Amino acid sequence: MAEFNLPANSRIKKGKTVKAEGATNTQTFQVYRWNPDDGENPRMDTFEVDMDTCGPMVLDALIKIKNEMDSTLTFRRSCREGVCGSCAMNMNGENGLACTTAIDKKAKSIAVTPLPHREVIKDLVPDLTDFYAQYASIKPWMQTQTPAPTKERLQSKEDREKLDGLYECILCACCSTSCPSYWWNSDRYLGPAILLQSYRWLIDSRDENTGDRLDDLEDPFRLYRCHTIMNCANACPKGLNPAKAIAEIKKMMVERRD
Ligand code: SF4
Ligand code: SF4
Ligand code: FES
Repeated sequence: MAEFNLPANSRIKKGKTVKAEGATNTQTFQVYRWNPDDGENPRMDTFEVDMDTCGPMVLDALIKIKNEMDSTLTFRRSCREGVCGSCAMNMNGENGLACTTAIDKKAKSIAVTPLPHREVIKDLVPDLTDFYAQYASIKPWMQTQTPAPTKERLQSKEDREKLDGLYECILCACCSTSCPSYWWNSDRYLGPAILLQSYRWLIDSRDENTGDRLDDLEDPFRLYRCHTIMNCANACPKGLNPAKAIAEIKKMMVERRD
């Protein structure tokens, strides 16, 4: 029987408040916390961070909170310059990279939660196992049948330019986790990030498996759940447009039927 109420253990409770002692210029961060080992409900902890000694980005504040206020806070980060994609999270309702999102000093407070509609591993760390499995499913490498040349497989300047707007994707999942179609069908719909990556190989003049790649996408769910809502393009911190890539794949599908 369908259940319309949230289970009691999914309700987010109010957590603790930690203040920066002696600070006069503070910004309030409300941070999602959940520990799979303590049996407690998720909670929102409040941290009042000293802005006079904090860097400009949301990730700077999270690192400061971890270093100085609560060492148990858990989040992913690596490059700190918008390249690795690991610090993707939701900040005041918008997905983005914490390392390239400036702290909005005018905001009353900044809510920081994990990427939406994913299982949470701990605090701000979402489980992206299925996302990576979907990435592997599109065989994201060059596939060829012709014998390898003695040097590189060459590409014209024009063909290389077709990869612009695609190769820059850092697989942060900001787009997919902002896509309503992906929220409801992420077990079967590949979602904007993986489809953008798929198009990156479909359009690569050096790849020789275009037909098989399109066959794999010819399915009511894997490709056709995109309803052009465009959340993905708005969410992408690299300024890419997965919806456009999806539309191009659909066009390739139609063209090969003609
Ligand atoms: S345009 Fe398609 S992929 Fe992008 S958010 Fe909308 S439904 Fe999702
Ligand atoms: S298209 Fe943009 S938002 Fe989506 S995974 Fe790639 S970089 Fe991230
Ligand atoms: S830490 Fe690498 S993208 Fe933010």
